[in-house]
Amino acid sequence: MARTVYIFDTTLRDGEQAPGCSMNLREKIEVARRLEKLKVDVMEAGFPASSPGDLEAVKAIAEIVKDSAVAGLCRSLEKDIDAAREALASAVQPRVHLFLATSPIHLEYKLKMMPDQVLERAEASVKYARKFCSDIEFSAEDAFRSDPGFVCRVFGAAIAAGASTVNFPDTVGYAMPEEFGNRIRYIKEHTPGMDKARLSVHCHNDLGLAVANSLAAIQNGADQVECTINGLGERAGNASLEEIVMSLRVRKDLFDADTQIDTTQIYAVSRLVSQVTGVKVQPNKAVVGENAFAHEAGIHQHGVLVNRSTYEIMTPESIGIPKNRMVLGKHSGRHAFEERLRELGLPAEGPILERVFAQFKDLADKKKAVSDRDIEALVMGAAAAVPETWKLDHWAVNTGSALGASGVIRLQDRDGQTKKLVTLGDGPIHAIFLAINHIIKKDPELELYEIGAITGDASAQGETMVKIGWNGRHWNGRGISTDIIESSIKAYLSAINAMEWELSVGGTAMQEDAVRGGV
Ligand code: KIV
Ligand code: ZN
Repeated sequence: MARTVYIFDTTLRDGEQAPGCSMNLREKIEVARRLEKLKVDVMEAGFPASSPGDLEAVKAIAEIVKDSAVAGLCRSLEKDIDAAREALASAVQPRVHLFLATSPIHLEYKLKMMPDQVLERAEASVKYARKFCSDIEFSAEDAFRSDPGFVCRVFGAAIAAGASTVNFPDTVGYAMPEEFGNRIRYIKEHTPGMDKARLSVHCHNDLGLAVANSLAAIQNGADQVECTINGLGERAGNASLEEIVMSLRVRKDLFDADTQIDTTQIYAVSRLVSQVTGVKVQPNKAVVGENAFAHEAGIHQHGVLVNRSTYEIMTPESIGIPKNRMVLGKHSGRHAFEERLRELGLPAEGPILERVFAQFKDLADKKKAVSDRDIEALVMGAAAAVPETWKLDHWAVNTGSALGASGVIRLQDRDGQTKKLVTLGDGPIHAIFLAINHIIKKDPELELYEIGAITGDASAQGETMVKIGWNGRHWNGRGISTDIIESSIKAYLSAINAMEWELSVGGTAMQEDAVRGGV
């Protein structure tokens, strides 16, 4: 029987800490719910000591996730471990993830510690965390650039102190697959007490080898891999979960190892992560890219029509891309709509279902055929939405090559009061965004503005992604509409509403609200 490889997902920590990938609490909770459905063994929910927001997010996720272990990252410091203790208090399966660097370069320039001090600190921190948690993971940061004998000593001390997983990161993505595999075999064979703990790897993608290195580690005895959805993460990212999982599944003959991941959830979670972070998946990305199952050449199309295995090593259905069996339009009823949601792996309930169905009806009035991508965008937008401090009431723009642009906007606040303003700008979007800033009396920086089409047809909806920054914090917004100016306004307002919500209600209320899923 194939041995089990454990999947430790760090999309919500290493993924989220990458520049431009921040998520609000509601978005993190939605991703966590999806990761649980995907059946990851462990999800790293955040770094509780790094900020009050991270602590609240880990707390909220620990409260709702039951079937996956929930990990909180800590430096090997008592104050970080105390923060993790608070954040993980209600987790059914809590895991404390400690890290401490072991490479000469980190010891000299970052930690300013001697090797023996690192050894002592590793041991002491595991012992301290073990007082309240039985599942401790210890990571030797920059392990690949460390002396292998020293890493074995540190791992041995961590295991003796009670760590049940030791993690070997290639923090800077420097390793080549064969040498990484050999290193993992060495660590497995030379770490004292290794039979009592799991050996994990955590590979970064600086040279594009994170997945190859993770697979080489599995072939050489690694029990756990750390990875992220769509390969998000620091710099060039982490190993991509979907690529590792599908490699093991498709090449079971070679690896004789498998995971407990429900691969039919992969596509939905990949789309969700892309939507909430605003980071698009490149079209030729393995497994989840738009072109991953597209056959362009005539000879390929013919082969696939006769027998799909001629040019496909896995099916779109195996990762949850449904066969498009019916087109929905304005005559489609609620039953057909709910059936389509189930097929897409996007079941919605209660107020979210009501809202999405109403939006679907509106859209179907404007568009002849509503595509799966349109539906997916509606559901994901609704699931991660925050309460609307500002609601769009009305807008108009006037623009042309001879004149400047002007925009008028009317917004409604939470008490139902409307506020209207007309502004001039360099273009229609600039004019409207300026008017919004005047009304909300804040001047956030627009850090990203991206506009695209959800589908490729002439009646496609425009999809706008924005990112705004204010006092060192960042919020994403997304808007869709058949009108690109309206999709831009909606995106900007959704980022503004995320900002207003976080700034006004504060940690605890925000957490309770997001856990309840109420708006
Ligand atoms: O890349 C790294 O070394 C990490 C550790 C904290 C596991 O992210
Ligand atoms: Zn990392």
